[in-house]
Amino acid sequence: MVAPTITFESPPPAALDALRDEVLDLKRQRNAVILAHNYQLPEIQDVADFVGDSLGLSQQAAATSADVIAFCGVHFMCETAKILCPERTVVMPDPDAGCSLADSCNADALAAWKQRHPEHCVVSYINCSAGVKALSDVICTSGNAVKIVQSIPASRPILFCPDQNLGQWVMQKTGRAMELWPGVCYVHVQWTHEAVSKIKREHPAAPLVAHPECVGPVRQLADEVCSTEKMVKFCRDNPAAEFIIATEIGMLHRLRKECPGKTFIPAATDNCRCNECRFMKLNTLEKLRDCLRDLSNRIELHAETCRRARAPIQRMLDVSAA
Ligand code: 13P
Ligand code: SF4
Repeated sequence: MVAPTITFESPPPAALDALRDEVLDLKRQRNAVILAHNYQLPEIQDVADFVGDSLGLSQQAAATSADVIAFCGVHFMCETAKILCPERTVVMPDPDAGCSLADSCNADALAAWKQRHPEHCVVSYINCSAGVKALSDVICTSGNAVKIVQSIPASRPILFCPDQNLGQWVMQKTGRAMELWPGVCYVHVQWTHEAVSKIKREHPAAPLVAHPECVGPVRQLADEVCSTEKMVKFCRDNPAAEFIIATEIGMLHRLRKECPGKTFIPAATDNCRCNECRFMKLNTLEKLRDCLRDLSNRIELHAETCRRARAPIQRMLDVSAA
């Protein structure tokens, strides 16, 4: 998917209030549930029924009894909801909300890689297309990747795709060797050891919390490396008054709500907006209103792809719950 150009200033407060009322009315009329990722704009997080990481959102999608799932995240997340709930209508505010990781590995490329390693177990990060999931043995998220890899018999070699940084982190945590696909998140690889060290020197008492999609030299500096949802728990439980957060900027809204009184410092080096995911930020409250009103931007998947992709996702949910 080609990276779209972005403009994502929030509307003025009165317009936001009116839009929020419209969204809530439509949600009731449609018997819909609104799921939002932690990177979504504050006004979308505030109107959602559930805000969380990829794992939590999958679990919510699997459990919902709503007729419509309005998924405020990126395309692979909406596809995952559709795979888990093929009978429900899944809509997304902006169909161009993709992901650089999902784009880095298509199903044909994975099929060719598998062919060269026929004895390997394929573990795919949830940030991938339905076609890639359908070719995988098990899916993982950043919240459960270590547990998923540990659940695979030690004698079985592993292909891990598409995020090489998450893969390297899992190798360090588990001591398991894995073949890694060379994909990256274009947002998380922008932070460098040098830039993050500088922020740490400016805030010596603040623990650094980094997402595993960050590069190794940044992860090395971190006091905690974890999924976005686990960041909430870490910051809530840790007695520190301020934290440096190396992940997408939307996370700071969630953290500020969940941990009032604590200070969260984005690990950006200046006002470059380099920690905003241009895909996540395509979704707006207006587009959420439109997709609920018109049931537009529906996720449609080939029934066979859906069937084949469900098994490795279900395996992940089962291992996570065990
Ligand atoms: P989480 O599952 O940790 O929320 O990560 C999703 C993601 O896309 C990170 O860039
Ligand atoms: Fe994909 Fe990175 Fe955006 Fe997450 S932050 S959705 S991994 S491009």
